[in-house]
Amino acid sequence: ADSVADAVAAFARGEPVLIHDAADREGETDLVYPAGAVSPDAVARMRNDAGGLVCVALSDRVAEALELPFMQEVLSHPTAADHDLAYDERSSFSLTVNHRDTFTGITDDDRSLTIQELAAVAADPDPDAFSDAFRSPGHVHLLRAAPDGLADREGHTELALALAAAADQPEAAVVCEMLDDETGAALPPAAARAYADREGLVYVEGASLLERFD
Ligand code: 5RP
Ligand code: CA
Ligand code: ZN
Repeated sequence: ADSVADAVAAFARGEPVLIHDAADREGETDLVYPAGAVSPDAVARMRNDAGGLVCVALSDRVAEALELPFMQEVLSHPTAADHDLAYDERSSFSLTVNHRDTFTGITDDDRSLTIQELAAVAADPDPDAFSDAFRSPGHVHLLRAAPDGLADREGHTELALALAAAADQPEAAVVCEMLDDETGAALPPAAARAYADREGLVYVEGASLLERFD
């Protein structure tokens, strides 16, 4: 079985995929969707079955066109001065946003709307249309991919966008960490695989994606 081909095919059909980054990085498995395929039910799956933070990863090209900064650069607070991470050089966090047609922004309907509209913006990025349609801060975290993608950084941000590119999807992918309900820790890879099997989803290792796309 070719898990990368299966993952690309699933993504092209708008189905979610599970991506484990690497045991020597975060050691996390994210539930990942093409942003345009997200529905209120998909948001419910992310918060109930994954349990992590719901984020939309945007390519460097789209983020640049939308003038989206890294969060660390816009924060003048001293907590942002030293951005030390145990597992990577830098985080990919950008702004948080809500679509202006949302109410509070957190409900399944609201987050689904925000995420779907982000996919539309990524397909045709325009900074004025973006700020006309979205407010910040909001309840959906934007992630900004490294300029050269997987050649630069091997996070879920870049892994998810490599999959979106291979599947001819807009450069916007939703990622959410799978957490273990028993322990609160990252869901172990074997359990993430078992979840994928149970739900008829594709599980793929970051290393396999790197081999194909880097
Ligand atoms: C946002 C995160 C996640 O780890 C997400 O997978 C994106 O980060 P990275 O690209 O570093 O893996 O921190 O919830
Ligand atoms: Ca993380
Ligand atoms: Zn991650």
